[in-house]
Amino acid sequence: MRLPALEDLPEVAGRSVLVRADLNVPLVEDASGRLTVADDFRLRATLPTVQWLIERGARVTLCTHLGRPAGRPDPRLSVAPVRDRLRELLGDGPVEVLENLRFDPGEEANDPAFVARLVAGHDLYVNDAFGAAHRAHASIVGPPATLPSAAGRLLAREVAVLARLVERAEPPLVAVVGGAKAKEKLPLLRALLDQVDTLAVGGALCFTFLRAAGREVGDSPVEEDALEECRALLESGRRIELPVDLVAQRSDRPEELATSGPDLPSGWRGMDIGERTGERFATLIESAGTVLWNGPLGAYEDPRFAAGTRLVAEAMAASPAFTVVGGGDSAAAMAAFGLADRVDHLSSGGGATLELLEKGDLPGLAALRRWAPLRR
Ligand code: 3PG
Ligand code: MG
Repeated sequence: MRLPALEDLPEVAGRSVLVRADLNVPLVEDASGRLTVADDFRLRATLPTVQWLIERGARVTLCTHLGRPAGRPDPRLSVAPVRDRLRELLGDGPVEVLENLRFDPGEEANDPAFVARLVAGHDLYVNDAFGAAHRAHASIVGPPATLPSAAGRLLAREVAVLARLVERAEPPLVAVVGGAKAKEKLPLLRALLDQVDTLAVGGALCFTFLRAAGREVGDSPVEEDALEECRALLESGRRIELPVDLVAQRSDRPEELATSGPDLPSGWRGMDIGERTGERFATLIESAGTVLWNGPLGAYEDPRFAAGTRLVAEAMAASPAFTVVGGGDSAAAMAAFGLADRVDHLSSGGGATLELLEKGDLPGLAALRRWAPLRR
């Protein structure tokens, strides 16, 4: 399972190194309409790799995806704000940042011609994109077929910590899952349920679960095509904690809020878990041996809907358990609450974390290991 490390690369001085990072960060628009990086956790997380290479005399070309532009250029998803923030963090140096890889359909299609264009002119490849290592996309799986390749510092550390979570989890193991993408996360949750003692569900995806449990969810988002599988999970006899109360917003009068639930009448939309639910989740976290948290529990960017995520974040910080927070949004929430250094591991990947726990491997890791024999 060992990944090739930076030290395994041939001489890097004077060489051109293509570094795939996950610089997919939230952007905000300032008063003048300019987009800037709202949270730079993922940028700072990849600096040790970039600095290691520069200090040894390499030229670095960073590449990343940003959002989901579906294979077409979208000026609102340009990497320009990322480039600006990186320059502030790194100063002027031999670092170039390529435009959003997903502006080209070849990236997600893993098109060999796109891989060839990407690697052209580079001598070495480093994958530091843990958050995207579960995507079998061109920039993740393509370069190790031709370039000497290694895992960056961030990728290597993430994999090592998650291996510990799997192999030496102190019971009880509690997983708290929020965010959106119910359909995408379901197979992972199913696998997770074999390993965890309790799965607590909040965030946008809880409405699909609540509906599957026979609740009224009002105007809250439900992923219809995931309902059946949610029902099966709920009937599997495993311990799944769903919200017992919710903070809801009136659809036609967004300034009107109420705490209710878990049933919501039509015309209302759930935006956060309620206080009783937050306290239940916090108790679970504080009495666990190991906790994995993935995905915000509500629309926390809006302070009116941040309380649930904050309660969970504070419980993570206070818990004596081995605590792992996975996912760009949950990590950003920990940072926003000033608690980022209070957990044992803040992961830069959400989906990647769950998929690594489910399958024990990721396409990006397998690609790096496949390169290894070429060295000998
Ligand atoms: C993420 O933010 O989850 C990663 O950057 C992967 O992005 P994706 O889900 O659009 O592939
Ligand atoms: Mg994400």
